[in-house]
Amino acid sequence: MSSVVSTDIRGDVAVVTIDSPPVNAISKAVREGVIDAFEGLEGQDGVRAAVLCCAGRTFIAGADISEFGKEIPGPTLHEMLETIERSSKLSVAAIHGTALGGGLETAMACNYRIALDSARVGLPEVHLGLLPGAGGTQLLPRLVGVAPALEAMLSGKMITAPKAAEMGAIDKIAQDNLVDAAVAFAEELLASGAEQKYAGDIVIDPASVPEGYFDQVRASIARKSRGYFAPEQIIKCVEAAVNLPYREGRDFERDRFMECINSPESAGQRHIFFAERAASKIPDLPKDVALRDIKKVAVIGSGTMGGGIAMNFASKGIPVYMVDVDEAAIERGLGVVRANYARGIKKGRITEEQLEQLMGLFTPTTDYAALADADLVIEAVFENMALKKEIFSRLDAVCKPGAILATNTSTLDVDEIAEATSRPEDVLGMHFFSPANIMKLLEIVRAKKTAPDALATVMKLSKMIGKVGVVSGVCYGFIGNRMLEGYRREATLMLLEGARVEQIDKAMYDFGMPMGPFAMADLAGVDVGVKIRKERELAGTLPNDPRQGVISERIVEMGRLGQKSGAGYYLYEDGARVGTPDPAIEAMVREEAARLGIEQRTIDADEIVSRCLYPMINIGAQILDEGIAIRASDIDVVWVYGYGFPPYRGGPMKYADMVGVKAVYDQICQYRESLGNEFGYWDPAPYLENLAESGGSFNDE
Ligand code: CAA
Repeated sequence: MSSVVSTDIRGDVAVVTIDSPPVNAISKAVREGVIDAFEGLEGQDGVRAAVLCCAGRTFIAGADISEFGKEIPGPTLHEMLETIERSSKLSVAAIHGTALGGGLETAMACNYRIALDSARVGLPEVHLGLLPGAGGTQLLPRLVGVAPALEAMLSGKMITAPKAAEMGAIDKIAQDNLVDAAVAFAEELLASGAEQKYAGDIVIDPASVPEGYFDQVRASIARKSRGYFAPEQIIKCVEAAVNLPYREGRDFERDRFMECINSPESAGQRHIFFAERAASKIPDLPKDVALRDIKKVAVIGSGTMGGGIAMNFASKGIPVYMVDVDEAAIERGLGVVRANYARGIKKGRITEEQLEQLMGLFTPTTDYAALADADLVIEAVFENMALKKEIFSRLDAVCKPGAILATNTSTLDVDEIAEATSRPEDVLGMHFFSPANIMKLLEIVRAKKTAPDALATVMKLSKMIGKVGVVSGVCYGFIGNRMLEGYRREATLMLLEGARVEQIDKAMYDFGMPMGPFAMADLAGVDVGVKIRKERELAGTLPNDPRQGVISERIVEMGRLGQKSGAGYYLYEDGARVGTPDPAIEAMVREEAARLGIEQRTIDADEIVSRCLYPMINIGAQILDEGIAIRASDIDVVWVYGYGFPPYRGGPMKYADMVGVKAVYDQICQYRESLGNEFGYWDPAPYLENLAESGGSFNDE
């Protein structure tokens, strides 16, 4: 008897229930259990139909991803599905929660499908660098048509059950009592003499697909799918669904699936899937810690950042106070918020009425006393310690006991800010990334005295507002910006050594970053970077390296502040968003290099990539040494969700594992020799050195 699959006979219908928490993923035990259950029904003549359903919160959420990349134990998913398909009993899948990937494929292997009105289905494998490898690419186009199926597989988006029913993937919708409804449906089908329908028997007429259709799809996703392996394989499989008989299409799909599963791209994406979930686990937080209630939020500072932060809460129906020094500033800020929401109207995401309801959740105020009933206050003013301390001491005076006081600082010492209050246990950092209403990362900065329940509350809240929360300890720049310094440092040095702006940017873009470091500086504002540097110099927290900062300072002196002023490292003529290289910058860089006596040489793309990334990896290792990040995979999550590091490379630490930690370490040591190490830039972190010596890796999957 299976421990996770049980069979209950109700008249002439067998109810086969999978109960494998948390999400009924198709593990070895599930595969074995389902095969046994369906084979067991063969001898039972009184049973004429089988309902396949799941206990717990959801129908099957897919194949068990933790088995991938290793030898799959026990019977395969294909064997399980073939057993269902071969069954002499009429099969009905009963779907609640989410039927995803192998879950939907299992449902499609059944003769009929019934789903709760609230259920959703989808083939999200593309997010894991995979394709639906258990018949999905062959069956979904047969059921719903080539274009909708391809769109579902390339986007990986979930589809609501009513919509899926409209499309043809679901036969019946139930409002409640799913299993009873499924049994009744099976009985109805038996009574009406319904046949055992197989989606695989449907033939797609190749003439129904317009000439050149697949190439059009390729062109339309080219930009979004740059660097990913799976999307092209999905397209090829759907082409096979159109052109090959079902069984041959399945074989073709299986081969492409194996290529995907063995690809480094999928290894990177699967790593990020588990890394994202691991990030929510904080080892020293008691599991049963009582969370604080967050019913009202206040955001101090109504600029772009403050407005974006506030939108996260309003979008979830939480009222927000918008606080600033004068009413005009708040009005301006709310105008930007309104314009952002209004874009959703154009895209059909919200109605005019919903927009007004959302705006109704904002209360503008210049008076801190109004914040007395706020449960969470997030300060989002510009980076200035004195100002932040003043704000926190004012908050301390007016906020109710137990209110969480958060700062959105991207660099400053949260312990020092906390000490400006009489309740440092309620203070922590909530570092949002711009645009704050869109970027998925939230760095949650745990200060020395932050109370466990305050931290746990903000972790939970981050998920509620659709963010991925990652805990960081206190250090300059926390996890992300501290590593960014190493990246930018080497990019600037290579510029001075002979590489060109566009050459460095292209190498990093080709690696998979959304843009290179100089295009990024232009976007953020070259002056912003210079200002931060100057403050660091004043604070004496930077090595006294005359090469650093020199180029960006000259650029600002030239009146070039980046995209916003039409010129920075690049020229942006007529409001262009993509810059063109400018010989004037090249000349200025060479002039500065000559002045500093820096020898010029040719630098190739491989060196650009390793010199940009290896300092980040080394700083990542220091961050682990110091306990700033809980685990290496948290660093990967920060870089993927905060800085656009390509998920198919798995984040910087996973990338180091893929290259080989020893190879990264050796290269760092080699740079220490060849580039000089006057400022300690290439001192390998002890953590990295130990891993390299022991043959270990940052992540142990
Ligand atoms: N395999 C193994 N573990 C899984 C899993 C899967 N397919 N899906 C979820 N889990 C685990 C998570 O790792 C997590 O574990 P921990 O509690 O130990 O961290 C737990 O289940 C709960 O998951 P979430 O925290 O994500 O819970 P949620 O309620 O927020 O979301 C979900 C639930 C929507 C199902 C989400 O987990 C999800 O999207 N899962 C992945 C779905 C997917 O990609 N399926 C396709 C798999 S590949 C496949 O099926 C290939 C094929 O064609 C054969």
